[in-house]
Amino acid sequence: MSEANSNRPKWLKAVDVPEGKSGDWEVKKTQKTNSKTGKTRRNTHLICCRHTIMADIDSEFLGLDPFYEHLKGQILITGLGLGVAVQGALDHPAVEHVTVVEISPDVITLVGGHYQERYGNRLTIVQADAHIWEPPKGVKYDAAWHDIWPTETHACANDWLEVKNLQRHYEPWCVWQGSWPKDAIERDKAAKAQTSTTVPES
Ligand SMILES: C[S@@+](CC[C@H](N)C(=O)[O-])C[C@H]1O[C@@H](n2cnc3c(N)ncnc32)[C@H](O)[C@@H]1O
Repeated sequence: MSEANSNRPKWLKAVDVPEGKSGDWEVKKTQKTNSKTGKTRRNTHLICCRHTIMADIDSEFLGLDPFYEHLKGQILITGLGLGVAVQGALDHPAVEHVTVVEISPDVITLVGGHYQERYGNRLTIVQADAHIWEPPKGVKYDAAWHDIWPTETHACANDWLEVKNLQRHYEPWCVWQGSWPKDAIERDKAAKAQTSTTVPES
């Protein structure tokens, strides 16, 4: 029996990128069975130098909700990873085309081909550093989603600076931009403000 990922937004599906290795990168499948419930959880992991960069697990999916609300027309994504965001965007009926900027040729080899085959000319994968790459003249993206940070980063101050820089860089080409570190930091701030204004009960 396959366990339904209850917290996952309905628009996001597990990925079916095949296992493989390229350079320091690896795509690996895991399967764990809960001895109490008998339910089996299958996941796909993107690993670099033995560190998991990304997996199609619930916590990874949760941050993508703000992106979904802006999905239509032309989309820009920085960071291919396992292609969770790419798949979610291209499965949306209102999305015409997705451009992905990915720095690693190995990730493109391992993951990119799978999606290119599935989505054809609705998907363009650009191998470049997202901090430097510039979209072609005259292009306008309805939404951009930035995710070039490994899972372990946990939205630290440096990410926030990088987010701001990336957003500034793509400002001329994008109607809306989002990223999970930005949302995580804003959620953290809101939670702290809430705690500091809560009067303790006597
Ligand atoms: C956490 S993964 C992205 C996960 C992806 N959003 C998904 O849905 O599966 C981060 C990706 O960003 C890429 N990356 C890191 N730095 C980058 C940069 N400067 N420019 C473009 N891609 C970058 C990594 O190689 C990796 O593939």
